[in-house]
Amino acid sequence: MAELPDNGAADAQTWLSRAAAAGDVATAERAYLQALAHDANLIDARFGLGVTYFRSARYGDAARELQTVVSAGAADAAIGLLLGKSLYLVGQFSESVEAFGLASRSMPLQGDSLRCYARARTYAMMIAGKTGDALADYPAHAGVEAEPIDVVIRDGFGLLSAYGHRAAAIYLGELLIAAKPGDAVQRHLNDAVAGRAVDHVPPAYVAAHFDAFAEGFDDKLVNVLGYRVPERMAALVQRHCASFDHALDLGCGTGLAGAHLRPLAGKLSGVDLSARMLEQAERRRIYDTLTHAEALAHLGAYPVEFDLVFAADTLIYFGKLDAIMSAVAQALSSGGIFAASVESTSNGFALLPSGRFAHADDYVARCAYPHFELLEREAVDIRLEANAPAKGALYVWQRR
Ligand SMILES: C[S@@+](CC[C@H](N)C(=O)[O-])C[C@H]1O[C@@H](n2cnc3c(N)ncnc32)[C@H](O)[C@@H]1O
Repeated sequence: MAELPDNGAADAQTWLSRAAAAGDVATAERAYLQALAHDANLIDARFGLGVTYFRSARYGDAARELQTVVSAGAADAAIGLLLGKSLYLVGQFSESVEAFGLASRSMPLQGDSLRCYARARTYAMMIAGKTGDALADYPAHAGVEAEPIDVVIRDGFGLLSAYGHRAAAIYLGELLIAAKPGDAVQRHLNDAVAGRAVDHVPPAYVAAHFDAFAEGFDDKLVNVLGYRVPERMAALVQRHCASFDHALDLGCGTGLAGAHLRPLAGKLSGVDLSARMLEQAERRRIYDTLTHAEALAHLGAYPVEFDLVFAADTLIYFGKLDAIMSAVAQALSSGGIFAASVESTSNGFALLPSGRFAHADDYVARCAYPHFELLEREAVDIRLEANAPAKGALYVWQRR
């Protein structure tokens, strides 16, 4: 990252030139912010900052800056297109349609912009309750760029549920399950978005979801969603104990935690329900054993075997926690460590539209208390969810 010396003499235009010449987005962002600190009305700096945020995948921030440019009456087609795309990516579909409309006054929409506009228009109509009309009108709005309607429906389901538009998402979820009644993934997501009383994620959902996701998992979680739970939780564990005879990575997935646990463990095992995730973990050549099994069943088969059980982003697939807490306790030796992450909610446990569970701190404490003493709890952002941080916590307990 290039240095940006400020001897106090640089003015807004100088910062603007530095921003435009910057070789990376972090340097450009700082220079645009300096320019705006000198002159908050410098529209070129607002536009540049908006573009920079867009390039950093900070779409909400990008939309805010670009809106300022539009409000100042300085918008052109390029700004309309970028604003339309940014608003689409943060789920503001009707505002996205307006922004694309601005661009289309001076040039016809085409390619990705036309596809994005047609989807935004369709999803905005669905949110307004005109679901059937929205689907019927889609081909006319998308023109030559029309995508297969099942793709528009499937992506719409994901976006509308992620951004809290439940009625529209439920409608699309019912279309999807009618087309594929045996789809365990869709069935569970429909339960989640409809708020049905479910107390665990069905194993068939977990296996199918992660088998499909395995190949792109590391890149998506680490580079796109900023997931750092494995290393942060391993560091937290080490504050209490830095050496274990046999550690179990529970729901090890592709083995992101493996490199952080390997130096701590004489023997390192992993277990997971997804065969494809385990294949990725196998490639790391870091675990002594990897087992394809359901977590509760696996723990039950190894009484008093482990002195560390490490569950990064795994309890989110369990709603009720008493059975898993008890199974972990029985598989741990006395004084053994259990480390786990959860997503947070305010009361008991809740199935989120994402299909994962969130847990309240006092509920977690109640389930842990019969078996474990709490050594440490740390509040963290688990990963991005619908472009905002998913709040959660890391726990380290000791077996009583
Ligand atoms: C979000 S991934 C996290 C993977 C890994 N722990 C990490 O931090 O990168 C959750 C993993 O838990 C596994 N999983 C969920 N429920 C499970 C269960 N009941 N038994 C075994 N594995 C499970 C999934 O297959 C998936 O690989």
